[in-house]
Amino acid sequence: MTRRIETVAIVGTGVIGAGWAALCLARGLDVSAYDPAPYAERRLRVAIDAAWPALTRLGLADGASRDRLAFASSAADAVEQADFVQESGPENPELKQSLLAELDAAALADVPIASSSSGLMPSQLQEMTDQHPERILVGHPFNPAHLIPLVEVVPGKLTTPSVTHSTSAFYFSLGKRPVLVRHEVPGHITNRLQAALWQEAYSLVARGVATVADIDAAITNGPGLRWALLGPFANQHLSGGAGGLAHTLEHLGPPAQEWMADLGRVHLTPALVDLLVAGMGAELRCTDETALVAQRDELLIHLILQKRGLTALP
Ligand SMILES: NC(=O)c1ccc[n+]([C@@H]2O[C@H](COP(=O)([O-])OP(=O)(O)OC[C@H]3O[C@@H](n4cnc5c(N)ncnc54)[C@H](O)[C@@H]3O)[C@@H](O)[C@H]2O)c1
Repeated sequence: MTRRIETVAIVGTGVIGAGWAALCLARGLDVSAYDPAPYAERRLRVAIDAAWPALTRLGLADGASRDRLAFASSAADAVEQADFVQESGPENPELKQSLLAELDAAALADVPIASSSSGLMPSQLQEMTDQHPERILVGHPFNPAHLIPLVEVVPGKLTTPSVTHSTSAFYFSLGKRPVLVRHEVPGHITNRLQAALWQEAYSLVARGVATVADIDAAITNGPGLRWALLGPFANQHLSGGAGGLAHTLEHLGPPAQEWMADLGRVHLTPALVDLLVAGMGAELRCTDETALVAQRDELLIHLILQKRGLTALP
């Protein structure tokens, strides 16, 4: 029988761990957190306070309280009473492997352990866990993790289907939108798609076709507006009119293949990194970044609330 989840352990409380902690508290759960960095508890409580107004607007569960956060003095202490573990330490394969082995040794045997890893494959993360690798998998969120619904659920070779299922069900109960990655690949689904876009964006800047600001403006005023509502396939389907996706692929598929053949392949050399960072600086020269984040979150909350009632959208 699947364990009832009342206490969630968050191990690693940087950008993503803090988002998970805030979300779990808002859903009325107890959170047991650990991070070895100096002042980590203080930093976590500040991050949760910053996230709380948005989470309140999205709706707090009965009993939700920031007081239900406990900060442990070790990773083992954080997980030993937990019903679910979300690991959010640094994206370093060796560190993650040894951290997961430590969590595996300390957590109760039937407790799922999900890693937030952006791109590591769960089978690699299972390599050093000799106790219960079958309860280890990837649960990859998107930043800001307390607001963006997507979480990619990626089972490894040794993960049992019941763990994959109960983890997805738990994320769903948090208000997340789990998407199962059916076959593990580096970068899962969405970071591979993002990497394809980043590669071409970097290449267009390197070739002088567009500036960093031009590309950000083109995406946010064009395809980005549609992508929050319909995915790349449904958008192409609608572009085909009555003929749908079949017509789009017949009509625009051949030219798109030519564009694909011309796509850039970039290496992030120091010179290219400097060019991109300088372009970013130029784009934000007159922008208050605190206001930028606040406005992003404000619109995101509106969109999430509006989408809740629209059942035709995916
Ligand atoms: N930032 C993103 O946009 C994003 C999105 C999705 C997933 N992720 C993934 O989430 C994970 C965390 O990324 P982040 O952006 O929050 O990084 P971060 O650097 O903000 O946080 C990592 C935290 O891990 C802590 N840490 C270091 N050693 C540790 C240990 N031994 N045990 C526990 N904690 C330890 C650090 O002190 C730090 O607070 C990574 O696997 C990353 O790939 C990041």
